Amino acid sequence: MLCKDIHSALSPILARYESDQICYVVDKNCATLPTRLRLIQGENSLLLVVQESRKSLETVQQIWDFLFEHDITRHGLLVAIGGGVLTDMAGFAAATYKRGIDHVNIPTTLLAMIDASSGGKTGFNYHGLKNSIGAFYPPVETIICPAWLESLPPHEFLSGYAEMLKTGLLNTKLWPQLLRYDLDTMDIPALTPLIEQCVGVKERIVAADPKEEGLRKALNLGHTFGHALEEILMDNSQFTMHNAQLAVLPHGYAVLYGLIAELYLSVIKLHCSKEPLHQLTQIMLHYYGKPQCKCSDRDALIRLMQQDKKNERTAEINCTLIRSVGSPVLNQTITPEEANEAWEYLFSL
Ligand SMILES: NC(=O)c1ccc[n+]([C@@H]2O[C@H](COP(=O)([O-])OP(=O)(O)OC[C@H]3O[C@@H](n4cnc5c(N)ncnc54)[C@H](O)[C@@H]3O)[C@@H](O)[C@H]2O)c1
Repeated sequence: MLCKDIHSALSPILARYESDQICYVVDKNCATLPTRLRLIQGENSLLLVVQESRKSLETVQQIWDFLFEHDITRHGLLVAIGGGVLTDMAGFAAATYKRGIDHVNIPTTLLAMIDASSGGKTGFNYHGLKNSIGAFYPPVETIICPAWLESLPPHEFLSGYAEMLKTGLLNTKLWPQLLRYDLDTMDIPALTPLIEQCVGVKERIVAADPKEEGLRKALNLGHTFGHALEEILMDNSQFTMHNAQLAVLPHGYAVLYGLIAELYLSVIKLHCSKEPLHQLTQIMLHYYGKPQCKCSDRDALIRLMQQDKKNERTAEINCTLIRSVGSPVLNQTITPEEANEAWEYLFSL
């Protein structure tokens, strides 16, 4: 639900649980936003502030340990407040603790608001592979309050906007509106109706196919290439974005680069018009910049794509492509040569 006042949205949910059975698991960068946080959780609540910025088993364990330490029963509630990294891990901890306790997501990044905090995918990265351990476990509610975005750094705003662009490519009404939004302003009131529409598009797709057996694969547009890029850059990388030094490539940037590679394949394999590819390329060059690593080890990228959990068969590369904006085509098999050509295109821009 989209709301202005988190407290009034959350109170009726909290009323269903014993107060000593409610745990707050909060992203470190939100714990420093005291007014809003205190308003939500009160003075004496159980609060775990998560410092880690990667989705690791260690952090999931830390959340499990916190729940055990405070004797949370199967009737407890976990309230996750943070970006997609936090909500993915807290959701998985909730899914598995005592065979599952209820959880509520309060997303605080744009990316988490429009994508990660809804739809029930939870998990963490393992053996260098994105989200390779996880569960489908929807929250009892997702409470979206765009006011959190006021403190979001520009590169995180852009990261979330890239996932919005992905959603827009699946919807003919939304795409032109996203192209018209003035990204220079990062204006939150003007963005709010677009957030609502993105959430609506995702909710409708997930309701039709909660376990990703068909239609939901449309939401993976950009992710076969994007995940491989994230995985190859997972360790020992440095990125400079809008004057910030980052150790992790923001997920949305990887998705945007993946979208460009997959729109290129949509043009050559499905004869999609070049227009969306050109529109997205302009946005990338103007706001995001080119990929900061050329990833010269293409064989390693291809191997990562062949290990993607979305593949139907081992060693095959499976992608969602589009025939046109609003017309995704699922389960497209990509040969290593085609994948290589798409990487070449992306890195030549
Ligand atoms: N479960 C799903 O369906 C799904 C969908 C899309 C993406 N994801 C996952 O989401 C993750 C990315 O999420 P993300 O982009 O939110 O990254 P993130 O959770 O790492 O947050 C980005 C940064 O913003 C900080 N932050 C959070 N809220 C803030 C605020 N209000 N003000 C200032 N700083 C704030 C965080 O501490 C972090 O440093 C990826 O791991 C991706 O795989 C999951």
